[in-house]
Amino acid sequence: MPKIKPKIKKVIKTVRAASELAAQVGAWRDDGKKIGLVPTMGALHAGHMALVHRAKKVCDKVCVTLFVNPTQFGEGEDFNSYPRDEEKDCAMLQDAGADILYAPTVAEMYPNGTTATLSAGKLGNILEGTFRPGHFDGVATVVERLFSHTNPHVAFFGEKDYQQLQVIKQMTIKQKIGVEIVGVPTVRGDDGLALSSRNEYLTAAELALAPTLHQTLQAVAGWFVDGEDMPAILARATEALEKVGFGPVDYVAVVDATTLEPLKTYSAHVPARVLVAAKLGRARLIDNIAVTAP
Ligand code: PAF
Repeated sequence: MPKIKPKIKKVIKTVRAASELAAQVGAWRDDGKKIGLVPTMGALHAGHMALVHRAKKVCDKVCVTLFVNPTQFGEGEDFNSYPRDEEKDCAMLQDAGADILYAPTVAEMYPNGTTATLSAGKLGNILEGTFRPGHFDGVATVVERLFSHTNPHVAFFGEKDYQQLQVIKQMTIKQKIGVEIVGVPTVRGDDGLALSSRNEYLTAAELALAPTLHQTLQAVAGWFVDGEDMPAILARATEALEKVGFGPVDYVAVVDATTLEPLKTYSAHVPARVLVAAKLGRARLIDNIAVTAP
């Protein structure tokens, strides 16, 4: 009888200590490998996998981090209830071909206490920053530490968190960090709903309503290109969202794609972005799209 080899399930290597990670990444770098970093807070979905796939295309080794960062959650926000399932995350990363998972403890990331030590500056105080004060200081702080622990050549972030992407780009320049930042397009369901770990908070009925967010962004982009009056555009969009059950609508904004300053009129020469944040039931959803030329 031929011997049947038992199938051993390969499990992605997970490290919790920065020193262990540094040793592995150092060895890869010594071998001339290009290191890609995908920072996450876990609760992985196809949007995160798009980041891993993109990283795998342009890098030799892909490190994913899993850390639910306390300094980017405000009081009363969902830090404690944020979805956590490391086993499932590991299985998805294994399938996607990531090389290592860095899942540090809070003490490893914040040996001197959980306070943000970097400021995201002006970019961190507008839009999301108005409703989540200190949020981007926490993001800038943790991403800078993840960069220092991981020492990647390139880091990949979703455009779904568009303001976060701009904050990180700016922080990287300001701190003179030699990491290339790559934004990866938002992954959406067939109905247009952007994938998000926080979609888990939606009931079935809310999930059916949630695609209105993307439809509203598209409508706003169209009205903007058509030259409609900006206050009227924003009022119409807010009304459309409230009509289906969103509320409060924290903001709908049409902004310069780099500075995030509000725009009043369309110009083919100024890349623009439409951003929205609104609550639906227990979930606070954010989304954005690029304004494309007619
Ligand atoms: O986008 C996220 O998941 C987080 O904000 C990040 C970039 C991993 C920092 O905690």
